[in-house]
Amino acid sequence: MGGTMHGLLTVLALWCLVINTRGISACIAMERDALAAFNASISDPDGRLRSWQGESCCSWGGVSCSKKSGHVVKLDLGEYSLKGEINPSLAGLTRLVHLNMSHGDFGGVPIPEFICSFKMLRYLDLSHAGFGGTAPQQLGNLSRLSYLDLGSFGGPAITVDNFHWVSKLTSLRYLDLSWLYLASSVNWLQAVNMLPLLEVLHLNDASLPSTDLNSLSHVNFTSLKLLHLKSNNLNSSLPNWISKLSALSDLDMTSCGLSGTIPDELGKLTSLRIIKLGDNNLKGAIPRSSSRLCNLVEIDFSGNSLSGDIAEAAKSMFPCMKRLQTLDLAGNNFIGNLSDWLEGMESLRVLDLSGNSLSGVVPDNIGNLSSLTYLDISFNTFNGTLSELHFANLSRLETLDLASNSMKIAFKQSWVPPFHLTKLGLHACLVGPQFPTWLQSQTRIKMIDLGSAGIRGELPGWIWNFSSSITSLDMSANSITGKLPASLEQLKMLAALNLKRNRFEGTIPDLPTSIQLLDISENHLSGSLPQYFGDKELHYLLLSHNILSGAIPEDLCNMVSMEVIDLSNNNLSEKLPNCWLTNSNLYVIDFSSNNLWGEIPSTMGSLNSLISLHLGKNNLSGMLPTSLQSCSRLMLLDLGENNVSGNIPKWIGDSLQTLVVLSLSSNQLFGEIPEELSQLHALQFLDLANNKLSGPVPSFMGNLTALHRGSPYWETPSSLEFMVHGVGSAYVSVYIDTLQTMIKGRKYTFNSEVRYLFNVIDLSANQLTGEIPSEVGFLSALKVLNLSRNHIRGSIPDKLGSVVDLEALDLSWNNLSGLIPHSLTSLTELGLLDLSYNHLLGMIICQTLDGDIFFDSANLSGSPLSAMCVPESNKHQLRFDTLTYLFTLLGFAFGFSAVSTTIICSMAARKAYFQFTDRLLNKLCTAVETKFSINRMSAGRDPSLAIWSQDSMTCYELERPSTATI
Ligand SMILES: *[C@@H]1O[C@H](CO)[C@@H](O)[C@H](O)[C@H]1NC(C)=O
Ligand SMILES: *[C@@H]1O[C@H](CO)[C@@H](O)[C@H](O)[C@H]1NC(C)=O
Ligand SMILES: *[C@@H]1O[C@H](CO)[C@@H](O)[C@H](O)[C@H]1NC(C)=O
Ligand SMILES: *[C@@H]1O[C@H](CO)[C@@H](O)[C@H](O)[C@H]1NC(C)=O
Repeated sequence: MGGTMHGLLTVLALWCLVINTRGISACIAMERDALAAFNASISDPDGRLRSWQGESCCSWGGVSCSKKSGHVVKLDLGEYSLKGEINPSLAGLTRLVHLNMSHGDFGGVPIPEFICSFKMLRYLDLSHAGFGGTAPQQLGNLSRLSYLDLGSFGGPAITVDNFHWVSKLTSLRYLDLSWLYLASSVNWLQAVNMLPLLEVLHLNDASLPSTDLNSLSHVNFTSLKLLHLKSNNLNSSLPNWISKLSALSDLDMTSCGLSGTIPDELGKLTSLRIIKLGDNNLKGAIPRSSSRLCNLVEIDFSGNSLSGDIAEAAKSMFPCMKRLQTLDLAGNNFIGNLSDWLEGMESLRVLDLSGNSLSGVVPDNIGNLSSLTYLDISFNTFNGTLSELHFANLSRLETLDLASNSMKIAFKQSWVPPFHLTKLGLHACLVGPQFPTWLQSQTRIKMIDLGSAGIRGELPGWIWNFSSSITSLDMSANSITGKLPASLEQLKMLAALNLKRNRFEGTIPDLPTSIQLLDISENHLSGSLPQYFGDKELHYLLLSHNILSGAIPEDLCNMVSMEVIDLSNNNLSEKLPNCWLTNSNLYVIDFSSNNLWGEIPSTMGSLNSLISLHLGKNNLSGMLPTSLQSCSRLMLLDLGENNVSGNIPKWIGDSLQTLVVLSLSSNQLFGEIPEELSQLHALQFLDLANNKLSGPVPSFMGNLTALHRGSPYWETPSSLEFMVHGVGSAYVSVYIDTLQTMIKGRKYTFNSEVRYLFNVIDLSANQLTGEIPSEVGFLSALKVLNLSRNHIRGSIPDKLGSVVDLEALDLSWNNLSGLIPHSLTSLTELGLLDLSYNHLLGMIICQTLDGDIFFDSANLSGSPLSAMCVPESNKHQLRFDTLTYLFTLLGFAFGFSAVSTTIICSMAARKAYFQFTDRLLNKLCTAVETKFSINRMSAGRDPSLAIWSQDSMTCYELERPSTATI
């Protein structure tokens, strides 16, 4: 009744209006005023509201009125790029049914509450509009809403404190709350369950709290067709109720923290077209019931721990997979081979089986998958020979990645392939010794990885100009000889060039302006460094282990894009340039092992993002510049083997509190070791050996908490940081920060190329006095302690027996006296013990595989005493933890405005290494990928998951002492 009355009044009002405005098409004055006020306060940089002129607001752009009532019912300003303030006058549009303000830029303000007063609203799109703050609860009053999109990628995030209001929107069919902050919405699932009409649900990357998906006893949202919950750590198993969603056609639960198995019920989802369960912890086999999923177009189970024989899974699963276009099982534990199951998948475009344990030979019939554009079987254990036959019909192939298999690639030299690749990965396949001639036909190629491919001899000349689209070229770790061309400027897209570990001679070529990564380390390059880098945006400059000479060019100081410079192990001379500018990208400088002289440049203090500074093994002199205390993110400082003089500055302890490695050995430092160093709570490697330090052995050593067992640093010396840079190319590269060092002392040396050694204190060859402080007993995680060649007196503290991880102990050449404490027998990891040249008495028990061995050293005071025992468990490699920075640059080959990302993570290198080849990189990439999925959307399938530079891990062993006397 009220409604009729209202309607009648409206008609009357409208009639009056028509009379008053004489012939101008109907527009209710109040609503026109409301729109005009809105127009007045909004900023419209693209001029999209230019049509908002005159009285007839119903004809203004984006405005629609009801033909019957004349009221504004639709305001569609999506893609209008509006900015600034939304005038609350808009509340006057009381009959609004459809409101779209997406893709505006409202500067992080909360969603205006007046929007909640539009009782008639059925469609509300405020996505990607830069709203922030907390979502108003009153949105729950919009009970007619059938479409709600608040998803907003990047920029401010809208927080939802209490999800309850969503449950009141019972007419909803479409809900997108992706990228909102829903961490406190513990009841989100129950709320969604009140929406029986829901067909589409997007909750990607919304910080959803841990949720047991199985906690729903009854599902209401059985009309669901699309369910996207990507990138939320739900910490759940796949719910059984999923089988009730019989209309479901698109399921994306990538990176959701799912564990358990894929339930057999999956087979009931016969409408399913797309299923993505990648990057979870799913185990077990692919359920047989999936044989009923005959509509599947895309399967992504990558990055899980799924297992079983792939051929068996295929036989049950793939018979009706005629429509399947994408099969991604990368990064799982599947075994088996490719025989007999590829037939019949004639629609297949993307096949990614990389990073499994598949074996056997690749069958010829892979050549029948004529729709294939993307084939990645890298990181498996396939063997046998691949010939032209395998590729006879693969004319659409664009990506071919066979890396890290024991396959011989034997194409005829004269072969002209039917395909035109954009990406080729043959890393660690047997390609050589000849360079593959067929590559010359691949004129569209962008990325080539021929690292470790057994190529010998000189390169053919055409390699440097057959394809102008090359962005990334990796020929590292081959035995390629000859000179590099004088210029590579013709490769106008080249962003990454990795020629590491070959035998290239000659000078560094002129580089194209597109270059971002240059790695020609471990070659025989000579001559000087380029003096000018022009407008290049180099990120990585890696030229270590060559015979480059001359000065370090000043132009390097100006390269603000630079992230890592490694010029170590060359013959560079002259003074270090003192022109460094504030640079927030530079993480690593390694100038060690050259002939640089002069003072450490004070401007290096402006490099406040520096994590690692290697200046060791040069002839640098003078004092440490105090400006270095601004480098407060330093984790490694190596100035060993120079002529640096003065005291150890106190500010190292006060300002460089993130230091993990501090090496000042073999310099001219004197004075006491400052107490401030005790504040270095992350320090795990302290080498002050071979200086002129005096004073007592510092008791504050006991306060180095990173060397306490169970300290957070001790377990995981890792910090993971993401840095984003907008660059327009594609490559993945890994840079491993290494520290070359020797632990001083007569009895033990480590291999010259040592990765980060952890848990070491070396104060040997100084003039330290006093006794060994009993606080050393707190350092329960210490592995190497060297106090030899000082003037230490007193007895060995009993407490040393609590340093249970100790693997090497050198106290030789001091004035120690008394009995060797019995507690040392509890040091079961001890591989090397040197107590010689003291005045000690006693007996040492050393445990080996064959039982205890007694070294009777009674009455040998004054004469050499040393013992060597290597427990069986330690024989192959001592358990030194190592730190690696893994720098991974990810880029996207397609699209020019792509984002590339640097990941810096420091972690136990060995762990990283062993995981690296299977899933670590995958995980990292996926992590980045999901963060930047917007770019991916336009980028198409990510072509960058290849490893463009791989280093081998050097393990090190204690050298047995040659003069052990027992
Ligand atoms: C809307 O704003 C533009 C620019 O500020 C102005 O030219 C135009 O007259 C305004 N229209 C109305 C109806 O107020
Ligand atoms: C299903 O939805 C209806 C209506 O929205 C609601 O009343 C009911 O409680 C819901 N059932 C469950 C189990 O949540
Ligand atoms: C491939 O490896 C399998 C074992 O996995 C072995 O039996 C077979 O002989 C190998 N084939 C070739 C051609 O090397
Ligand atoms: C070392 O730690 C102890 C106990 O926490 C504290 O009393 C002492 O002052 C610390 N020493 C130094 C030099 O920081």
